[in-house]
Amino acid sequence: MRKKVVAANWKMNSTKASSKDIIVNLITLLKKEQENVAAEIIICPPSVYLEHCKSVLAENDSNLNIKLGAQNCYGKEKGAYTGEISPIMLADIGCTHVIIGHSERRQLFNESNELILEKLKEAFANNLTPILCIGETKEERETNNTFAVIKSQLKPILDALTDTELQKLILAYEPIWAIGTGLTATPTEAEEVHAYVRSLVRNRNIEVGHSISILYGGSVKADNAKDLFKMVNIDGGLVGGASLIPQEFSTICTSVR
Ligand code: PGA
Repeated sequence: MRKKVVAANWKMNSTKASSKDIIVNLITLLKKEQENVAAEIIICPPSVYLEHCKSVLAENDSNLNIKLGAQNCYGKEKGAYTGEISPIMLADIGCTHVIIGHSERRQLFNESNELILEKLKEAFANNLTPILCIGETKEERETNNTFAVIKSQLKPILDALTDTELQKLILAYEPIWAIGTGLTATPTEAEEVHAYVRSLVRNRNIEVGHSISILYGGSVKADNAKDLFKMVNIDGGLVGGASLIPQEFSTICTSVR
């Protein structure tokens, strides 16, 4: 059985107080539904609040075992990289996961595949599980280039990772036109790309192709999560906006079967 995962990407939102509120309320809701929580849940707050969220989790989460992830990292261990945070530091404060290559980082901060690969390597070296994001723009979809774009983002990475690294990787297919727009890929549209992503991984390593978790992201909400998550190649979600609303996010978490 593939691992089911629901990850919350808070992006650049929340304060110290609201971070606590979100987590406490989420845990209260999830505890009532504990028997329906089939997914591993990961919360990725802004980096300045990681330690704060870690202690809020420790104080409130007795047995849900919610994990802590960062939204980004740098691809070096240490040194003169003003403003950057290394995977070793994230692991040091209790992170287990890190989102890498989110489309907002690729588009707004010009992150290249080479940089993304460096970040992945450094994350693996420090025992973090990366959630690697891939996805096409609206224009790329409309010109029938979705598969070509996905392949150009994924294949060089798959080729450069070792088998051991691949076994730890989590993928997130996030069509850029669906992120924060309220437009969601239909379950069939998403499934088509997820199946393609899995075939690319399978071509690289048959076993990992079968076992890798591929999350869908892009306007996942309480009312569309179930239909997306029941598709065979969709193993959970990477959730932005709706992850800031405990009621919405807890419903998304319990929509995984
Ligand atoms: P969204 O964001 O759920 O707000 O569309 C998803 C993401 O960017 O990871």
